[in-house]
Amino acid sequence: MTDPGFAMTAEAGQPSVRGSVPSVAGAPDLFDKFQPLIDQREALLATGLTDPFNLVMEKVESPTVAICNGKRTILLGTYNYMGMTFDPDVIAAGKRALDEFGSGTTGSRVLNGTYQGHRECEDALREFYAMDHAMVFSTGYQANLGIISTLAGKDDYVILDIDSHASIYDGCGLGNAQIVAFRHNDVEALEKRLKRLPPQAGKLVVLEGVYSMLGDTAPLKEMVAVSKAHGAMVLVDEAHSMGFIGEHGRGVAEAQDVIDDVDFIIGTFSKSVGTVGGFCVSNHPRFEILRLVCRPYVFTASLPPSVVATAATSIRKLMSGTDKRTHLLENSKRLHGGLKSLGFQLGTDTPQSAIIAVIMPDLERGAAMWEALLREGLYVNLARPPATPQGMTLLRCSLCAEHSEAQVGEILGMFEAAGKRIGVI
Ligand SMILES: Cc1ncc(COP(=O)(O)O)c(C=O)c1O
Repeated sequence: MTDPGFAMTAEAGQPSVRGSVPSVAGAPDLFDKFQPLIDQREALLATGLTDPFNLVMEKVESPTVAICNGKRTILLGTYNYMGMTFDPDVIAAGKRALDEFGSGTTGSRVLNGTYQGHRECEDALREFYAMDHAMVFSTGYQANLGIISTLAGKDDYVILDIDSHASIYDGCGLGNAQIVAFRHNDVEALEKRLKRLPPQAGKLVVLEGVYSMLGDTAPLKEMVAVSKAHGAMVLVDEAHSMGFIGEHGRGVAEAQDVIDDVDFIIGTFSKSVGTVGGFCVSNHPRFEILRLVCRPYVFTASLPPSVVATAATSIRKLMSGTDKRTHLLENSKRLHGGLKSLGFQLGTDTPQSAIIAVIMPDLERGAAMWEALLREGLYVNLARPPATPQGMTLLRCSLCAEHSEAQVGEILGMFEAAGKRIGVI
């Protein structure tokens, strides 16, 4: 449930100036429910800590380096896994589309918002995944929201991992589907839930290839088999594995050789692809009807031409990204092993993805460690409940294929210095 937490209430935390209290005496202020979070945030900031959810990147020099607070900072908290944001071909494609097609479509995909570039982007996705259909949304959030809510209505069941992303839960909410959650990555728990459901009911099992909080991968082989045995359709969100995991970068379903049994793959352009947007690919013969009935696809403007042009170029380049994938895997092993030998507690025993989560003893020390790393010149993501599983505070490190071996060495040095200063190692 990735929820930025404090960031949601950054404005609510400011003292109100005018017109913001209920005009009828005794009427509740709709902000009352946020008060505990406002108090927690204010208490933390009162200690003099830099706000971990309000950092500004003053300049971005490359996929791995930015200027923050006037200081050169190594980026270890982006989702730029394959480093495509500064790829010269990707940038050139975006500039060309901006010149030739203008800055935006000003319309829905089903009206005036399908340009040649949207089609080309969907062609690139079909080729990348070797699937029959591809549908591009304006974000990955909207792809989950749209596909899940359209497929699963109030008499249908969505069986999902309890640690699923917020967009998956919100998709269930929008469609009014019955939510059946099972323990994280637990195949037996999934099977038990499926067995209890009416055999004739519509069922959609929703899984993620990589879970972004701890960076662990799902046992998709077993889970897909169990789901199919109980007559469920399967959707896998490969947001954090596209481009990196699997022989062709198609994700964990490809790596575990079950991609042909998966009914729908959801993905995003905001991670390995390096821009913004979302998609669903599928081989379902009736898939195309979704374009007319999926509200988060129909009732919103389509992506700007420059964005679909950068996405299509990036996706095509990711098809031949084997060397980058190998280097990213090496970096992931190097960082995981290095942090472990420094004495940090990690989210997984072995490196399973490009995300390495460092578990902090509590929010206070987590936030202090985050700030100490920033002072060293390293940006990581601070994650805290309710976004995290089991109430953990995490420093989430996400690697990029453009991080050099030397940078990983620098990163380990910074973790050692900050960890000793804060007293977590
Ligand atoms: C698993 C998962 N699915 C979907 C999304 C949404 O992607 P987007 O940023 O394109 O909205 C995210 C983003 O964090 C995610 O982690």
